[in-house]
Amino acid sequence: MKHSDKKMDTIIAYAKRKGFVFPSSEIYDGFAGAYDYGPHGVELARAIKRHWWKDVVLKKHNVYGLDAAIVMNPKVWVASGHVAGFSDPLADCRTCQTRIRVDKELEKLGVTADEKMSEEEINKLFDQKRDEIVCIKCGSKDFTEARPINLLVQSNVGDFSTDGSNPVYLRGETAQGIYVNFKNVVDSLHPKIPFGIAQIGKAFRNEISPRQFLFRTREFEQMEMQYFTRPGEDKTAYETWKEERWDSFKQMGISEEHLRWNQHDNLVFYAADAWDIEYQFPDYGFDEVEGLHMRTNYDLTQHSEHSGKDLSFNDNGDKFIPHVVETSIGVGRAFVAVLAEAYDEEELEDGDTRVVLRFVPKLAPVQVAILPLMKKDGLAEAAQQIFADLAGVFRVTYDESGSVGKRYRRQDEIGTPFCVTYDYESKDDKMVTVRDRDSMKQERVAITELTNYLQEKIR
Ligand code: GAP
Repeated sequence: MKHSDKKMDTIIAYAKRKGFVFPSSEIYDGFAGAYDYGPHGVELARAIKRHWWKDVVLKKHNVYGLDAAIVMNPKVWVASGHVAGFSDPLADCRTCQTRIRVDKELEKLGVTADEKMSEEEINKLFDQKRDEIVCIKCGSKDFTEARPINLLVQSNVGDFSTDGSNPVYLRGETAQGIYVNFKNVVDSLHPKIPFGIAQIGKAFRNEISPRQFLFRTREFEQMEMQYFTRPGEDKTAYETWKEERWDSFKQMGISEEHLRWNQHDNLVFYAADAWDIEYQFPDYGFDEVEGLHMRTNYDLTQHSEHSGKDLSFNDNGDKFIPHVVETSIGVGRAFVAVLAEAYDEEELEDGDTRVVLRFVPKLAPVQVAILPLMKKDGLAEAAQQIFADLAGVFRVTYDESGSVGKRYRRQDEIGTPFCVTYDYESKDDKMVTVRDRDSMKQERVAITELTNYLQEKIR
């Protein structure tokens, strides 16, 4: 089907029906801005994370992994500037109290209002456009002034004060866990510069209007890497990482036709450059999936000053605060892009339509389905043995219920690239039929060769 014919509502309903994504705590009417990955979703999300980890950490000799705690000393967020400046400009409808994000409303009217602007500057722009901004709930144009509301989510973990006066924060980005461990990594591994530190983990933001499925949620997962360079050497590293990250989207099966770069017009004061990789989501249009930022030496300098610890790098007596290239991608947004890209409704020759998820094999939640032609005559036992042999190597499932044709369709629906059928002939010729999801072609493969055959295909 054409990409332009895809509908997000259909894909979201499908994702729920087939066990990919469920609304959080649905039996209690859900919880805005949170979702749960179901049995197939968790495998897809893990495959995306594995793909990223492999590209960014395992294939590099100089990028090191980390898994920092979600809760940190609250001084981290003061130093990073999040306590003072990590906010959205919000206004309330005076008639029905519906809250709007003023920057987003202005954006719809072609006016850029970004985080670097002061409250006064945003209100000036807001005042110029008040006539064109209408409350979606009651139609009123009577709004309060815009004021910044902080996005950090507070927690009382470890705060036993009776008035909640010592809040801690659930991290608003994983990157700060990397900065505060910079010295630990340097002191323990003695890396040569340049080097990177990467981690995958949850982040939390009090988004005023979580929207568009997994696109903007209050709890989400980030895959972030901070690459530390000598001052002046960040630009070259930045260009290399931009190329690599673009390529990584292609490896996830995303067509370049549905990707584009977007350079930020207005940079936050410490950033030297910022580009987003945007995906063309069905209905929603192009929007950010990954951000690549030249963050200069801002964060390490801030943490040096606030902690009193020297976070400079000593390269044979040459001391400097490294500059940082950051790559940051949300698991949920990558997940939606991969799912939307893979979703296909195909008209078959017999007039039937099949829904098929065309995941690249390395990301498919189930990579191989083992199907005995019949349950009887020892076929099930033999197929189960094949399942057991393959289970440690691939993500495998076993299915013996219903006709083989129906079982093929069920696997197409969750994007399984290969179905292996054990039939009566298999008993004699020690071969199985391997059916390809996309071409629907079938091939006989010797059981002794099956692992190699599938490994080759899946790679
Ligand atoms: N450390 C840099 C940073 O956090 P960001 O542009 O705010 O930069 C990076 O976020 C990525 O995290 C985004 O490109 C997006 O994929 C993901 N992300 C950010 N906010 C999100 C949200 N509310 N829901 C889902 N994903 C989000």
